[in-house]
Amino acid sequence: MNFYENKVIDEARQGEVLLMDTSQGKRKLFLESYGCAMNFSDSEIVASILAGQGYSTTTDFNEADLILVNTCAIREGAEQRVRGRLKTFNTLKRKNPNLLIGVLGCMAERLKSKFLEEEKIVDLVVGPDAYRELPKLIETVEGGQKAVNVLLSLEETYADINPVRLDSNGVTAFISITRGCDNMCSFCVVPFTRGRERSRDPESIVAEAADLFERGYREVTLLGQNVDSYLWAGGKARKELSETERKNSFTFANLLEAVAKVSPKLRIRFSTSNPQDMTDDVLHTIAKYDNICSYIHLPVQSGSTAMLGRMNRGYTREKYLERIAAIRKIIPGCGISTDIITGFCGETEQEHADTLSLMNEVRFDFAYMFAYSDRPGTPANKKYSDDVPEEVKKKRLQEVIGLQQKHSAEHTYDALGKVHRVLIEGTSKKSSERLYGRNSQNTVVVFPKDDHKKGEYVNVLAEACTAATLIGKVV
Ligand code: 5AD
Ligand code: SF4
Repeated sequence: MNFYENKVIDEARQGEVLLMDTSQGKRKLFLESYGCAMNFSDSEIVASILAGQGYSTTTDFNEADLILVNTCAIREGAEQRVRGRLKTFNTLKRKNPNLLIGVLGCMAERLKSKFLEEEKIVDLVVGPDAYRELPKLIETVEGGQKAVNVLLSLEETYADINPVRLDSNGVTAFISITRGCDNMCSFCVVPFTRGRERSRDPESIVAEAADLFERGYREVTLLGQNVDSYLWAGGKARKELSETERKNSFTFANLLEAVAKVSPKLRIRFSTSNPQDMTDDVLHTIAKYDNICSYIHLPVQSGSTAMLGRMNRGYTREKYLERIAAIRKIIPGCGISTDIITGFCGETEQEHADTLSLMNEVRFDFAYMFAYSDRPGTPANKKYSDDVPEEVKKKRLQEVIGLQQKHSAEHTYDALGKVHRVLIEGTSKKSSERLYGRNSQNTVVVFPKDDHKKGEYVNVLAEACTAATLIGKVV
């Protein structure tokens, strides 16, 4: 997944607090989310489950009866931030001894009951597949005990739960389509914190998209750790399928098409694509439907084939570049973004140079870039030594960031003088006289408000830009 570590998901979602007002329940829930879009989406499921228990949400933790932190474990830094936050929340217990504090998500799953021992300040630890149990677990805690449920599931997709849309602009929403990951990239903790990959049934996905459209939403982002491996065969796992059954199952390309058909006025985005699984079928489907955005997030991680082998990514540099060429051929003008890790185990100067040269070949529109963080229990943690010194990781990261900033700015500059189809998402943070939205390639576009409203599509001529934002007028 992209968007890790409090990344700004979009202009309306800045900050990691989910603002919401769910129902008129008597008890107050303060829910804070960290990490990827999937976590934000899960928080919407949690809010829905707890709304059924009479919890309404608050944006002020001082008035909360229950504080839940939906956590990320992808890097050490993400976990440290959560620890700091929990300490702050715990001081509130002095004033309000009935306050309950719970930890959800990947860090809960990784640390399990150790959380209760290490961080004595927590009452409740609940992993990503156990949210249905929250009402019971809260009852246990109210009875004076601590509660933990970190069981991972082979089936849970929360397909039947209608998420409460949190901090919503009323225009864009997430729909989760798969949970878990089977890829086992050697650096990644996700397969251990989110369990085995499973796909959600397509009917419930299409129904959710149609319901959102009815309620005025105009863009959905289909979410999964690896959307290209989406496969529905009546709930059967991939490995149980015969060759014929597999051929007849419902793929990600089929799903994209089905959601695109909900309405030509509903935009479709998706994240995250995977270089080893992204088929030409998917690319042709994107090209065929105007309402499927021309934007693909395709994490490369490294430009060195040897390094990709150590990372267990399942593709080579050449294969990645071949997928980029296919995107460019089938979807001309497609926006492409990526994830890059610097300083993974054994990374040589040459391997780092290979990453820079791949970036120069592809010229990504955007990238999420990270210094490698060793995660306990991952294959890399067991097999390799985390031997690139911290200063070297950081220095390489700065080089990668510098090069990407140059490429991003060049792409923004190239978009000037062109007309962009923009879905309006809201009022610009910087000026109430301006609106903002994004073009198909996911670039933010700002323009004067006039009589336009959020949820509308407008054509905007880009006349000026900052490094990452286009500024223009409606034509
Ligand atoms: N250290 C640094 N970055 C990581 N990512 C995943 N695991 C780690 C790690 N241990 C990055 C990858 C992935 C993104 C979501 O986070 O680039 O694509
Ligand atoms: Fe982690 Fe790789 Fe799965 Fe992404 S695809 S969640 S990086 S194991």
